[in-house]
Amino acid sequence: MAAQVTTVAQQKGGAGNTRMAAHLAIAWSDAARTVAIVDIDPHAYTEARFAV
Ligand SMILES: Nc1ncnc2c1ncn2[C@@H]1O[C@H](COP(=O)(O)OP(=O)(O)OP(=O)(O)O)[C@@H](O)[C@H]1O
Ligand SMILES: [Mg+2]
Repeated sequence: MAAQVTTVAQQKGGAGNTRMAAHLAIAWSDAARTVAIVDIDPHAYTEARFAV
C-alpha cells in the first residue's frame, strides 16, 4: 500500500496549522488508516499535545 504525505503549511503563524493537521490525523485514524503526524515547527506543539 502506497503512503500518502499531506502537508499543512503557510507563512503566517498562529493560524490553525497545527490544529488542522491534528484534526486530519484524528479523522484518518478514526477511518482505520495508519497515521504518523510530525510538527516540524520549533514549538513542536503537536508532539507535546499527543505526548510523543
Ligand atoms: N478553527 C479554530 N477555531 C478557533 N480557534 C482555533 C481554530 N484553529 C485553531 N485555533 C486556536 O488558535 C490557536 C493557534 O492554533 P494552532 O496552534 O493550530 O496554529 P499554528 O498555525 O500551528 O500556530 P504556530 O504558528 O504557533 O505553530 C490555538 O490556540 C488554537 O486552539
Ligand atoms: Mg503550529
